Amino acid sequence: MIKILTVIGARPQIIKSAALSRAISRHFSDQLREVILHTGQHYDESMSGIFFDELQIPKPDYNLQIGSGSHGKQTAAMISGIEDILEKEKPNALVLYGDTNSTLAGSIAASKLHYPIIHIEAGLRSFNKAMPEEINRILCDHVSTLLFSPTRTGYDNLLREGFKENSLPPYSADNPKIFYCGDVMYDNSLFFSELAEQKTDIIKRLGLTPGQYILATIHRAENTDNPQRLSALFNAILKIAEKEKITVVLPLHPRTSKLADKNLGSDLLKKLKISPYIKIIPPVSFIEMTALEKNCKLVMTDSGGVQKEAFFFKKPCIILRSETEWTELVECGSAIIADADEPKIMNAYTHFSTNVNLKFPALFGDGKAAEFICEQLIKFISA
Ligand code: UD1
Ligand code: UDP
Repeated sequence: MIKILTVIGARPQIIKSAALSRAISRHFSDQLREVILHTGQHYDESMSGIFFDELQIPKPDYNLQIGSGSHGKQTAAMISGIEDILEKEKPNALVLYGDTNSTLAGSIAASKLHYPIIHIEAGLRSFNKAMPEEINRILCDHVSTLLFSPTRTGYDNLLREGFKENSLPPYSADNPKIFYCGDVMYDNSLFFSELAEQKTDIIKRLGLTPGQYILATIHRAENTDNPQRLSALFNAILKIAEKEKITVVLPLHPRTSKLADKNLGSDLLKKLKISPYIKIIPPVSFIEMTALEKNCKLVMTDSGGVQKEAFFFKKPCIILRSETEWTELVECGSAIIADADEPKIMNAYTHFSTNVNLKFPALFGDGKAAEFICEQLIKFISA
């Protein structure tokens, strides 16, 4: 039996991990055993606990309960905790997702102890090293053994950084193998899409009319921590809502809730509070989020995951950042990069209100990325 240690920590990683856990329990449980380590990077019930039952993810075998902190303190505590569990569990490989501090910590701990790293969502680049995520993903990719890229662009980024297209086994951190395999989040969105219709009444509960509201999320450090950018984003959202008389639903990340009082002027805060069009709500579950995405008119977000889910559900997306790793979305015209720039955001909204025939080509695989990853993992470890 092959033993893998999966490290999760932040909301999107918990959600991504559901696809692999599901594939293992359905098709590979006689060959693969997954031990789950939660770093505790996210810890509120609405940012972590809620997803396990809802998405049928096995409860973590370990929770390091690291919590919030500066990059150095948080990452260092995680490295030390992951190292202990690696020594105890001695897995055949470590599975890491995405680009958070939990990903970085896992990659440092495992590479120093010579455990092979399987990186899911490899190769994505924003080409902006001011983002903590860009540093995390580059460092993780360059000590990984199997790298699974969800997009062709991600795969090409790896080739440009020196990874080889035709490397031959035995694979190692010095002779890694790269794959373009589709997105485990597409697997998840397909799987949970129908359940979202049956299992939540969030649309009714919030008094929303399908097709007639905007779904927005904001949580990136570069937006939340900068008063000018955060104010520009909320001003643009408020202006569109009031001018177009359209409801905007904002499930707010705790980072943003905590910084809004400090970084938004009292005047803007008051206007947001009294506007009948602005619905600021706590973070919602994945099933609720899926229902909100499926039924909205348009998405505005600085989230990586939410950008893609807008695309999966054929919704236009205004990207509230100056660049994106998911460049295909912009190239095919279903997403526009508007930064934290009021006029650009307003123009993007007008563009999508008048251009309704958008294209959503199949860019993210066939909904079976997790199964492919399990097959490759078994092949690699059994070789
Ligand atoms: C992290 C990731 C980011 C990812 C995001 C997903 C890093 C560097 N960043 O950002 O790439 O897009 O998760 O959501 O790893 N907080 C709570 N409760 C929680 C979690 C966080 O209140 O359960 C608050 C704390 O004030 C904390 C702040 O949010 O300081 C930021 O949390 P942190 O995990 O450091 O980074 P995120 O902004 O969530
Ligand atoms: N999400 C959720 N509830 C929310 C907001 C987001 O379940 O209130 C989900 C969303 O559907 C997506 C993932 O969280 O699958 C994205 O995570 P986040 O935006 O926190 O991080 P990012 O993808 O930017 O790293």
